[in-house]
Amino acid sequence: MSGTSTNSRLICAAIEAMGRSYSPYSHFQVGAALLTGSGKIYQGCNIENAAYTPTNCAERTAFFKAVSEGERDFAAICIVGGKAGKPESYTAPCGVCRQVMMEFCSPRTFRVILALDENHWKEYKLEELLPMGFGPDNLA
Ligand code: THU
Repeated sequence: MSGTSTNSRLICAAIEAMGRSYSPYSHFQVGAALLTGSGKIYQGCNIENAAYTPTNCAERTAFFKAVSEGERDFAAICIVGGKAGKPESYTAPCGVCRQVMMEFCSPRTFRVILALDENHWKEYKLEELLPMGFGPDNLA
């Protein structure tokens, strides 16, 4: 599934998920919407922790929800983020989240959509964000 209407659906889902962010320390709210090959969307938000390091990013929340439900085939992820839930610039996935994407997604085809709102978004392939990534194929 691809195209602008799919991206709109993903952006709305990511913005909705951002509203559920648990971020009392950074106040930086992030939402993600992960699209499976069959068209299902898994939402995720960042979940912070008083001990800081257990914090989970929105993208990984979405991936871990989906993978734990048996999903293995992913087409795209949309990410929105901003202080107090107001996106002012594009929020790109951290290195750890890019590596998790590399585990489950084809770097040449998996789409990463960074959005401010339904009318402002940019799209990348995973391989653009993680060139020469190390993944399952390296161990095959
Ligand atoms: N964060 C995400 O959830 N995803 C990103 O792509 C960047 C960072 C979260 C982690 C932390 O809760 C807050 O944003 C500030 O780093």
